[in-house]
Amino acid sequence: MLENMTRMLTEAKENKYAVAQFNINNLEWTRFILEECEACKSPVILGVSEGAAKYMGGYKTVVNMVKNLMEYLSISIPVAIHLDHASSYESCVSAIDAGFTSVMIDASHENLNTNIEISKKVVDYAHARGVSVEGEIGHIGGQEDGVVGGILYAEVEDCITYTRETGLDFLAPALGSVHGPYHGDPVLAFDRMEEIKEKTNLPLVLHGGSGIYDEQIRRAISCGICKLNINTELQQAWTEGVRHKLDTDKEVYDPRKVIKAGEANIKEAVRKKIELLGSMERAK
Ligand code: 13P
Repeated sequence: MLENMTRMLTEAKENKYAVAQFNINNLEWTRFILEECEACKSPVILGVSEGAAKYMGGYKTVVNMVKNLMEYLSISIPVAIHLDHASSYESCVSAIDAGFTSVMIDASHENLNTNIEISKKVVDYAHARGVSVEGEIGHIGGQEDGVVGGILYAEVEDCITYTRETGLDFLAPALGSVHGPYHGDPVLAFDRMEEIKEKTNLPLVLHGGSGIYDEQIRRAISCGICKLNINTELQQAWTEGVRHKLDTDKEVYDPRKVIKAGEANIKEAVRKKIELLGSMERAK
């Protein structure tokens, strides 16, 4: 069932597990992810960056594609279509009007007051339409759609003010994770994570989920993380399968066979993450 993220993340928070956001890049990925999550009976969040939405033909195309796939594949698990790192209020409005069930406003590069102002506007528009909202504070580093940025750790007091003033549903505090591959070991501020959980009482989101060690992910869940975002790991898994196919089968030219060569790898990566996060058999 297509829904916003509120019910799935509230249940995750109460029962101390996390739901995966897998970012989608095309129709085939969406199908592979939906099929595997259905097989695992796990709720899932389909993350769509602005760049990926543009690539796939815009927000309406994405929504219709997901809806039609869900119907065609008889998907019964809870599914959210979530705009990842929206750069503006206008972008959130377009996605919501197109049928996205959840949005993330990322005004984390602005000062706190401006971040609050923009995020609050998004919350007002979204909540009036039954859409859930995630917001970022501090700045999550790494690579986002080709833009490289550094980490700026979230301050506890800012998190309290930001969530209180905006009324948003989920908080993504920057606590050391980065988008894209890590250079060196990930260093996460677990104590601060726990303090933010205690003081905001909201489900927390960890971005840059690829490359974080399993032990760190388990600890993050115990410190309040209810949603883990994963993109790079699936990209790497899919590309490995396709590269192997092209290297070993010089005769292949049917694009369906080429793209499908990444299916098993994506599904395996999805299942492993679901097992790690504890969302297996949680679909209601
Ligand atoms: P990774 O690409 O590092 O998995 O990060 C994904 C993400 O956080 C999307 O918002």
